[in-house]
Amino acid sequence: MTDVLIDTQFNDLIATALAARSKAYAPYSKLAVGAAVKCKSGAVFVGANVENRSFGLTICAERIAVGAAVAAGEREFVAIAMTSDSNEPIVPCGACRQFLAEFNPHLIIVSATVHGDRKIDNLSRLLPDATRGILKDADSS
Ligand code: THU
Repeated sequence: MTDVLIDTQFNDLIATALAARSKAYAPYSKLAVGAAVKCKSGAVFVGANVENRSFGLTICAERIAVGAAVAAGEREFVAIAMTSDSNEPIVPCGACRQFLAEFNPHLIIVSATVHGDRKIDNLSRLLPDATRGILKDADSS
């Protein structure tokens, strides 16, 4: 029952991420990813992955979405949804985990495939101890 509730709770965010996926620029990997980040204010910002022929400069959908939100003045995030057409729901790469943890180490991570599979996780499980001791005099969480 709880699973059913959790499943429907993020339907809108997933749908928004799915729409954003159509804007992905992924000619090299062919893995188009869409993301939608929900702010504490209720605002939602989208992103899609942007690849580069140098490969290393590729930016994931999650970082594009969070960057857009921060540029619009948002810094408090409650959940991020990602969509892809992979066989199983993707998880954020290591760099994105660190990037997301900057703003909320306990961010809810919702990942869905275009085939209808979805998985809900918490960033603190994917990246434990995200901030401890990294900066002098800064709080960890
Ligand atoms: N990618 C994302 O945009 N988000 C993820 O969570 C995983 C990977 C992108 C990066 C690259 O363009 C492609 O997917 C293959 O790794």
